Amino acid sequence: MKEITIHAPGTVANLVCGFDVLGLCLTEPYDIMKVRLLDKKEVIIRTTDNYPLPSDPALNTAGAPLLEMIGGMQREIGFEVSITKQIKPGSGIGSSAASAAGAVVAANELLGNIFSKEELVRFAMFGEKVASGVKHADNIAPCIYGGVTLIRSIFPLDIIPIPTPALFVTVVHPQIEVRTSDARQILRKEVLLKDAIRQWGNIAGLVAGLMKSDYDLIGRSLEDVIIEPVRSILIPGFHEIKKACRAAGAIGGGISGSGPSVFMLSRNRETACVVENVMKSVYDRIGLNYNSYVTTISQHGVTCLNTL
Ligand code: HSE
Repeated sequence: MKEITIHAPGTVANLVCGFDVLGLCLTEPYDIMKVRLLDKKEVIIRTTDNYPLPSDPALNTAGAPLLEMIGGMQREIGFEVSITKQIKPGSGIGSSAASAAGAVVAANELLGNIFSKEELVRFAMFGEKVASGVKHADNIAPCIYGGVTLIRSIFPLDIIPIPTPALFVTVVHPQIEVRTSDARQILRKEVLLKDAIRQWGNIAGLVAGLMKSDYDLIGRSLEDVIIEPVRSILIPGFHEIKKACRAAGAIGGGISGSGPSVFMLSRNRETACVVENVMKSVYDRIGLNYNSYVTTISQHGVTCLNTL
């Protein structure tokens, strides 16, 4: 039976001001997944790492989307999925989305690409539902489409790829776990009109800035008056990191997804590396372990390597 190996990259959801509607695809880190076509209607999950992730496909972020996919098909087919996670669960860089998006892109490739990207996002969102209790596509869509995506709506799905200028991304992941479901639970359910006005001005400004390659506008728009004030309390050193990274030349940034990772955008690699050192020095001083990455925006999303 046919088998494929893919890389499923991490993603930065929200892009500070665009809670649940904006996200970008990272070149690194990525999970490695092997998916094999079976001639039986079943999904088998094998993990090759030490993360305590469920192997019951209905409860697994890669398994649930595949069950949804084969559930609607007349053919007797299934998939066996082996996952080597390099994106830690609870890191805020789209670990659950990588498994979900990687699984459906690989499965689609094995089936001869019978589903559109939009249909793949719809399947993959079942993985996010399993992981966080809510369907959201701001990690899934950039992971499948690559680049920056705007999710104008999820019911019905309306995904708009946004062109971007050259941008370097620095990410620091302090080694604490923040579950997306918890980070969503602490949010206020209502917002003040004045805050909403400021926020949608920023979202529009960020999209316009990306499309016009206007770095100053991008920087001014990377402001979040609704989510960040609440979630930043979960991230040690957050405000210090943000201030110091901007002083070091970053265009701007903030919490990656639901945290605890923090990301910053820079115009060039040298600045992105200086920003990484700033992040490291804050966590070295606090005495907190971390992983850090200097990377770029992947324009490809999930990458298929070889089919056997
Ligand atoms: N938009 C989601 C959230 C992304 O912030 O809860 C989670 O990675």
